[in-house]
Amino acid sequence: MKKFAVIGNPIAHSKSPEIHSDFAKQFDIDLQYTKELVAVDNFFHFAKDFFQYASGANVTVPFKEDALQFADQLSEEAKLAGAVNTLSKKQGKIIGDNTDGTGLVRDIRDNHQQSFHNKRILIIGAGGAARGVILPIAKEKPDAIYLVNRSPEKAQKLVEQFCQYAPMTALTFTELNQSFGIIINATSASLSGESLPLSDRIFTPESFAYDMMYQAMPTAFMTFARKHHATAVDGLGMLVEQAAKSFEIWHGVKPHTQSVIEKVRRQL
Ligand code: ATR
Repeated sequence: MKKFAVIGNPIAHSKSPEIHSDFAKQFDIDLQYTKELVAVDNFFHFAKDFFQYASGANVTVPFKEDALQFADQLSEEAKLAGAVNTLSKKQGKIIGDNTDGTGLVRDIRDNHQQSFHNKRILIIGAGGAARGVILPIAKEKPDAIYLVNRSPEKAQKLVEQFCQYAPMTALTFTELNQSFGIIINATSASLSGESLPLSDRIFTPESFAYDMMYQAMPTAFMTFARKHHATAVDGLGMLVEQAAKSFEIWHGVKPHTQSVIEKVRRQL
């Protein structure tokens, strides 16, 4: 039986084993998928041992940069994201991939039926989560991508790095005086329940607001967007879609995600 795991610290909360086991049932694939709690300074040692007998791993906080270093070969997405969330052993080599951005695009485009094409996209945040989704969004050919961040120099740096893939502009919160078609919250503010200094001008009733975080109740960002008549959803679908893309990399088949998203939602 092929062995997989999700590696992180903390890891107890992870829904990945259940998601992958639900996907595997769709194809009668037998696999073992465990949660692995690894000490923060022990990723390399653990991963080396693990891949003696395992086929793949998902990697989560705080090991995504360690996984980038660990891989022998990297996909374009992983290189540009500066982070790896999916490791695969192929012909004795470890391949590093990043499926987070594809997960976000598939959730917004396919599950929520929102096209990026020719729209102005606003990404709030310029940390690892934002960086990981820019390239897949750029590949959807939006009109332009705008980045706004509390620390403006971080947004500017990302713009310089990614402007060859799409027209990009860095903004400060006080410069947010126009509306956007799709607005993505990639900050960690929702985690601490903090609200963002957002102008209500960014939303119209046609705007689609996406919080990369998810929880049982609507996040503060979703509530703010809805108050200004935008459609707003959370990032639960992204969680399942990034897992589906990892599954595809490992097993060569694309699982159905809708029933899995609904199941995880019921368990929140
Ligand atoms: P992640 O990997 O989740 O992106 P990160 O790299 O620490 O985590 O980035 C967190 C992001 O959330 C950053 O863009 C951060 O803004 P700064 O770069 O200015 O720190 C943003 N963030 C977190 N809390 C915030 C808040 N209360 N208001 C605005 N932005 C916030």
